[in-house]
Amino acid sequence: MEAIPPVPPRILIVDDDDSVRDVISVLLREEGYNCVVASGAEMALDLASQEETPLVISDMKMPGKDGLWLLEQLRERYPDTSVIMLTGYGDTESAVDCLRRGAVDYLLKPPKLTDLIRAIERALAKRRIELARKRYQKKLERKVRDRTTELRNALRDIAHTYQSTLLALVAALDAREHETSDHSQRVVRYTSAVAERMGIKGQELEEIGRGALLHDIGKIGVPDAVLLKPGKLTPEEWQEMRKHPDIGFQMIQNIPFLATPAQIVLSHQERWDGQGYPRNLRGQEIHIGARIFAVADTLDAMTSDRPYRKGTTFANAIAEITRCAGTQFDREVVRAFLDIGEQALIKIKEDMHLRKLTLVQAEAQAQEAEATLARLTDDLDDIDQSIPGPGSPGPAPRATSPAAPPPPAPAVGTAASTASRPEQAVVLSVLAGGRQGNSRD
Ligand SMILES: [Fe+2]
Repeated sequence: MEAIPPVPPRILIVDDDDSVRDVISVLLREEGYNCVVASGAEMALDLASQEETPLVISDMKMPGKDGLWLLEQLRERYPDTSVIMLTGYGDTESAVDCLRRGAVDYLLKPPKLTDLIRAIERALAKRRIELARKRYQKKLERKVRDRTTELRNALRDIAHTYQSTLLALVAALDAREHETSDHSQRVVRYTSAVAERMGIKGQELEEIGRGALLHDIGKIGVPDAVLLKPGKLTPEEWQEMRKHPDIGFQMIQNIPFLATPAQIVLSHQERWDGQGYPRNLRGQEIHIGARIFAVADTLDAMTSDRPYRKGTTFANAIAEITRCAGTQFDREVVRAFLDIGEQALIKIKEDMHLRKLTLVQAEAQAQEAEATLARLTDDLDDIDQSIPGPGSPGPAPRATSPAAPPPPAPAVGTAASTASRPEQAVVLSVLAGGRQGNSRD
């Protein structure tokens, strides 16, 4: 098969002088170039808009719009088009100006054929390299964009996994101290609400939330006999208990993204007046996250039921926290806390409770639906087995009496088999609903 010769590049020759224009185009056609001609700048621009034009050779001085105007228009509209300017003898200044404005070359009029061809080949080669460079750059940019997206997704997955791990850890801790079910997560909500009210946002807000979530992580190191003791603690047991901020700090301080939360864990039992532990820090020495946490923790402790006492009202807890502003708590934190208002605080707790209920209900619903589905599948299997297949001997004969003829065996598509299918569909939709509910949270 004969190879198709490459199409010669389109060259547009622009000159108001017919003779120059015709000579150049005839010579270039003889050399195998595909030439089009224009007698002025505007006509040239019109021709360039009709078809891709890799190269324009234009005279500088033309009546009406001149070569410089054409050069600027081409650079702006068709940046991939190369332009060679033809200048009169002694007009070096204009030639330099052309190069500055983006022309690839200039030739003195009338150009020698060899010079012209050399300039054309140079310009086209330069253009090919430039186009290849642009293609490569685009490819590279697309690759970088794809990799960035992949990396961002991977980071998001890692962050999600970190968060899930922390939640699992804290849930285990809350489960160990039976009376503080969900305490850590509620405290996170109260802490974040106060922090936001104080104008804290972004990463700082996230770190404070994480510190609140992990505040009692060090209780993992407190023996059950002390942590779960129903009665009052002895001084020695208190000594054990008071180690938990330090244990928690030691546990997480070397995890880079938990460096700030570790500070909150270490300081969460400190008091504004310096009467806390383990370091007796006072005032602003205590991390702001820990100062906010202290208020949130007290609110949750006072308003939650314990096996040995009922939780008090939010109004009572708020009054007590207000009373302790300036001693146990930072006044500014208490001010922001009071700004939130009793109803909004109650709503935080109710929302969390509702969410948990929804999750539990969805889980129970899903389990029930799965059990029903399993039962229905068994029933269908039984029905299928009782249908005689082609060439099979059929079901075993039943003992019948002449008075009561045996009922016909159910067949595929009969009322007996189709009746169960809508039920199956409902079960499947419930299952799907239950699972969606889980994944949303
Ligand atoms: Fe604690």
